[in-house]
Amino acid sequence: MSPDQPTMLTQRVNARLRPFREEDYPRMVEIGVASFPDDPWTLEEARHWDASWNHARYEYLRLMAEDAAGRAVGYGRINHIPWEFHPQTYYLNVTVDPALRQRGIGSAIYDALLGELQRRGALAVRSGVAKETMTESVAFLTRRGFAEVQRGFESRLDVAAFDIARFAGAEERVAAQGILLTTLAAERERDPEALRKAYELQQACGRDVPAVGQPTDTTFEMFVAHDIEAPTALLDAFFLAKDGDRYVGVSLLQRRLAQPDVLSQHLTGLLREYRGRGIAMALKLQTVTYAQAHGYREIRTGNDARNRPMLRINEAMGFVKEPAWITFEKRLG
Ligand SMILES: CC(C)(COP(=O)(O)OP(=O)(O)OC[C@H]1O[C@@H](n2cnc3c(N)ncnc32)[C@H](O)[C@@H]1OP(=O)(O)O)[C@@H](O)C(=O)NCCC(=O)NCCS
Repeated sequence: MSPDQPTMLTQRVNARLRPFREEDYPRMVEIGVASFPDDPWTLEEARHWDASWNHARYEYLRLMAEDAAGRAVGYGRINHIPWEFHPQTYYLNVTVDPALRQRGIGSAIYDALLGELQRRGALAVRSGVAKETMTESVAFLTRRGFAEVQRGFESRLDVAAFDIARFAGAEERVAAQGILLTTLAAERERDPEALRKAYELQQACGRDVPAVGQPTDTTFEMFVAHDIEAPTALLDAFFLAKDGDRYVGVSLLQRRLAQPDVLSQHLTGLLREYRGRGIAMALKLQTVTYAQAHGYREIRTGNDARNRPMLRINEAMGFVKEPAWITFEKRLG
């Protein structure tokens, strides 16, 4: 902001930037939760996510901003995008304590990260944390040359109000086609290859999820870290559709540690030749049955706005759309 600008309303904070340190976790989570109160997370989740990052393969740099008294006031990061990997494409996030915004802290973090990106010869940087209703964040990015490249809907299902009887016969209809519904928890007991097969199915389905860039495979170790060993993982809510011994479809839920009555829907997908046969809907009904049986209040899911087949299923089930999340991109090259 130039000194002659007339709208200098608040005291500028001269934020000092430094690398992230282990002892920053609690304050980072506090700032993050205050910034995204609808999606709270815990220290345990933050630590697990960081510990499972493959630093040999993908870059990850996080900076903290602190005020003159040494109190952390915001953070930012740049990282490669494992599921759409390109060595010169990065993801960027800047988050500032909501009580201390409009004081230059976000700009200071952003400028430092942009310098890091330029030093690395980055060609593109994306940021995907702004909801369309977060006008401050959207303005921050667009004023810095970012443009919308993707829009996704978060939608929520009221579990108790869901009338499963409306969809009676879904499981029987897929059974008549020789498709059996099971869980990864059950499969793991009987098939030593269960994890490897579930990983391969996830990769195959992941390639067809609408994305901004070119989807890329992730590693088996990442699958284990995110879907099996994560503190949020629920292997008895990791539903699989089987044709004989072959895994052909998946729909899985995970817990949210800071919201014990809410479940997150993760990937739902079918191998191409099994689509259009009611298997995805049958799998999704298993997830709701699970949620009802275990007393959960809500299931949340996120879908790319272009993903009509998935949106149709969610709309038919009664998921209610929230304001969209927008992914932005800025070309640097
Ligand atoms: C987006 C976000 C990081 C901005 O943080 P911030 O600390 O408010 O950012 P700044 O104060 O540096 O800049 C915001 C605006 O306030 C202005 N500003 C800075 N100091 C000011 C001051 N002392 N008085 C008045 N305005 C000021 C800036 O010029 C800037 O306007 P500009 O975009 O036209 O340059 C913050 O809103 C946030 O954490 N949002 C949630 C996370 C998120 O969605 N991030 C998206 C980006 S990755």
